[in-house]
Amino acid sequence: MVWHKSKRILLGVSGGIAAYKSPQLARRLIERGCEVRVAMTRAACEFITPLTMQAVSGHPVHLHFLDAEAESGMGHIELARWAEQVIVAPASADFLARLAHGRAGDLLAAVALATEAEVAVAPAMNRLMWEHAATRENLKTLAARGVRVIGPGAGDQACGETGPGRMSEPEEIAVEIAGDARPLLLDGVDTLITAGPTWEALDPVRGISNRSSGKMGFAMAQAALDFGARVTLVSGPVNLPAPRGARRVDVVSAHEMSEAVMARAPKSQLFIAVAAVADYRPVNVAANKIKKDGGRMRVELEKTPDILAQVAALKSPPFTVGFAAETENALANARKKCMEKGADVIAVNDVAGGAVFGAEENAVTLVYRKNGKTGEEALTKADKYLLAVRILERIAPLRAAS
Ligand SMILES: Cc1cc2nc3c(=O)[nH]c(=O)nc-3n(C[C@H](O)[C@H](O)[C@H](O)COP(=O)(O)O)c2cc1C
Repeated sequence: MVWHKSKRILLGVSGGIAAYKSPQLARRLIERGCEVRVAMTRAACEFITPLTMQAVSGHPVHLHFLDAEAESGMGHIELARWAEQVIVAPASADFLARLAHGRAGDLLAAVALATEAEVAVAPAMNRLMWEHAATRENLKTLAARGVRVIGPGAGDQACGETGPGRMSEPEEIAVEIAGDARPLLLDGVDTLITAGPTWEALDPVRGISNRSSGKMGFAMAQAALDFGARVTLVSGPVNLPAPRGARRVDVVSAHEMSEAVMARAPKSQLFIAVAAVADYRPVNVAANKIKKDGGRMRVELEKTPDILAQVAALKSPPFTVGFAAETENALANARKKCMEKGADVIAVNDVAGGAVFGAEENAVTLVYRKNGKTGEEALTKADKYLLAVRILERIAPLRAAS
């Protein structure tokens, strides 16, 4: 399937409990190939933080007029021109009233008035607010002016009542705004992903490991599933639930991970090695807990299998992508790794200071190998899921063409 041109969507968030669903809506739109920018009202910021919306959208959030930083280099009129679609979700009763009456006292309402793009609203409020004659009148006015009203649904409300006024689910809104078809960039592609750290035992209770949380690998698995891939996730010891739909294989050591991968890699079409595999393991593993005697202890280490190189060296290897964490000379090392190991792409992240481990956000540079040379592209810092989507957007066409 051909990747469609992304639609530029301004997601407006106004003040209501349903704002907790707005980050999910941003994700559902991004999965469909949309570029999402976010504007929030002052009240919305009482319910969710701009930081969350910034992380999921990958861009600073627009909050106030005349605040150069918050307007993020794009003033409200430019934002209104930039948008190909405006969706306000949740739309509060007050926001609907402001829009119906042409009030432009806050940035979001001003953009909604100043845009030529279609404006859609997903109202969310207490059922009595929804049923109030004033709200009904405002909605009638808005609908007559071409504003698309999505939902609301009926059911249990946050205020403890039951009835109409519940914001439609993010998936339903995303379907309305960006269509049903997900861009299935990896439709049916057998994808093998490794994630997490490995644990190399010294004795029954101690071992050598690293600080990988598994979040980046699990985000890659989720994004690959969302793009239609059949995903097998080989995971070291982590504290994360497997994404629904992925086949999960739990392993502990680098050897176990190598075995699990090599048993599956020949049948895979795409291999993404995100796991932070230990490079060395103790030569001898004590059967019992090592006792404390003597001032010093010497541990002899031996190399573990290089899983990425093993897969790349297969007779007909899957398209192979490796993640590399570097603390110095990140790019030079990634270029070298890419050539030496025979990987098609290396995604390198600079982990100096350890800030990436366990964090929700990450940034990588993709180093490609093509015709004996390397090329590269830096992807800016974003929520790990969003970054995974961006990485797959680049990898999928390369794999298809390989
Ligand atoms: C806890 C709480 C929950 C609220 N939930 C809603 C809601 O679901 N829908 C709504 O229209 N207003 C709700 N309000 C009231 C709005 O936040 C208030 O009208 C606010 O001025 C809306 O501002 P905005 O439209 O600029 O975002 C709630 C207020 C509070 C304190």
